[in-house]
Amino acid sequence: MKLRYMMAMTTTYDIIVIGGGPGGYVAAIRAAQLGFKTACVERESVLGGTCLRVGCIPSKALLHASERFHEAAHDLGKLGVKTGKVTLDLPTMMTHKTSVVNDNTKGIEFLFKKNKIDWLKGEGSIAAAGQVQVGDQTYGAKHIIIATGSSVTPLPGIMIDEKQIVSSTGALALEKVPENLVVIGGGVIGLELGSVWSRLGANVTVIEYLDRILPGMDGEVAKSVQRILEKQGLKFKLSSKVTGVKTGGNVTLTVEPAAGGKAESIKADVVLVAVGRRANTNSLALDKAGVKLDERGRVVTDAHYQTNVPGIYAIGDVIAGPMLAHKAEEDGVACVEHIAGQKSHVDYNLVPGVVYTTPEVAAIGQTEEQLKSASVKYNVGKFNYAANGRARAMNATEGFVKILADAATDRILGAHIIGASAGEIIHEIAVVMEFGGSAEDLARTCHAHPTLSEVVKEAALAVANRQIHS
Ligand code: NAI
Repeated sequence: MKLRYMMAMTTTYDIIVIGGGPGGYVAAIRAAQLGFKTACVERESVLGGTCLRVGCIPSKALLHASERFHEAAHDLGKLGVKTGKVTLDLPTMMTHKTSVVNDNTKGIEFLFKKNKIDWLKGEGSIAAAGQVQVGDQTYGAKHIIIATGSSVTPLPGIMIDEKQIVSSTGALALEKVPENLVVIGGGVIGLELGSVWSRLGANVTVIEYLDRILPGMDGEVAKSVQRILEKQGLKFKLSSKVTGVKTGGNVTLTVEPAAGGKAESIKADVVLVAVGRRANTNSLALDKAGVKLDERGRVVTDAHYQTNVPGIYAIGDVIAGPMLAHKAEEDGVACVEHIAGQKSHVDYNLVPGVVYTTPEVAAIGQTEEQLKSASVKYNVGKFNYAANGRARAMNATEGFVKILADAATDRILGAHIIGASAGEIIHEIAVVMEFGGSAEDLARTCHAHPTLSEVVKEAALAVANRQIHS
């Protein structure tokens, strides 16, 4: 008995990944595929991280369900489908969400078993290079990968209770539709979850500090998103900051112009705080191991995810770069392949960004603003969904595809889409860009008719002013 205990204390792995989200679990699976003896530490009761438990996956379940609700109540009649009175069954919608989450998290557990990855249950910290502490056990590891993700950035003076003042986690589990929902932050979470509750019947007001929503995205696209969401009933207060919050009964927010000035009061039943996320490093004891953090609390790595301490690596939201599940996955694979001596490379210019509003927004590569500030000469090809036969047939005529190509070489430098299925059709442009392709390459590729993807082809043709259908 004692001997077995001693052996457990000294289990040594080739790779221990701390964190079982998309970055961590994908790194662990790739490590096992490459023949490394691998373990993954996860403190939650299920694998999958924020993305699977309280992020991407449950939000998409609610986005999809609320879109169908809205469609049945408002749009199907226009197609000759009479539905009668449409009523909301929120508990069933939430049950759907929960079962999707359960299927996905159990799926990761299955993949761990299939790949013979040990799940070390508990909170992991790094006792020293080569040693991971989980509870009262210490495990040896030739390589440690930090993949602990991020959590909600709080706003000073505003206590998140996940009932009245919620983060994205609470906003995915409200027990009833709030009459008035105020969203602080006009970023991705604010717009996606604001849209869900707006479609289900809430009056939604988005308060954004900057003079625009979706900072970092192409300005023309962001303006178009705002106009479309306003038509759907969302209200926007830009260049505004929340300076006080009073709870009790409902919530009263004091809102002031960002530049200072006259304050106003806004009442809400629920307030969603969505002002960004920050790296999770607190519980890792990184100071003991001597791992360096940057000024924003993220783990500093080189291009191969190596921290300043040999044998300790970091990937995903906990390092610099966009906080996106698919970026974390690419990090994880490349990190492990590097450890295996392979020459993997991720082009971070080509990480697509998708906002799952209706219609969707998708972007890849450079924005017009970035090209202008780098003094790059470029041509623009733009094509509207309204001129596409399939989009008309679907009553999905809002939006456009914009392709930016180098003026001298025609190489595609960026693409920005707002419109139906934007998050799917962006990927053909991503592949062309991965191969350094030109707008003409895309324009000369035969696209099936009638498809939404023809908007992409026409936008590529429009780069040389030779679009056919407009
Ligand atoms: P975000 O960074 O996308 O947006 C935060 C917004 O809040 C910004 O527009 C910012 O200007 C504003 N803001 C900051 N402080 C403020 C204040 N005091 N008052 C008013 N506005 C303020 O962050 P968000 O939406 O919280 O998302 C967090 C992370 O999760 C992001 O990195 C995002 O990319 C990721 N995410 C990605 C999704 C996707 O890819 N579809 C979905 C959900 C989240």
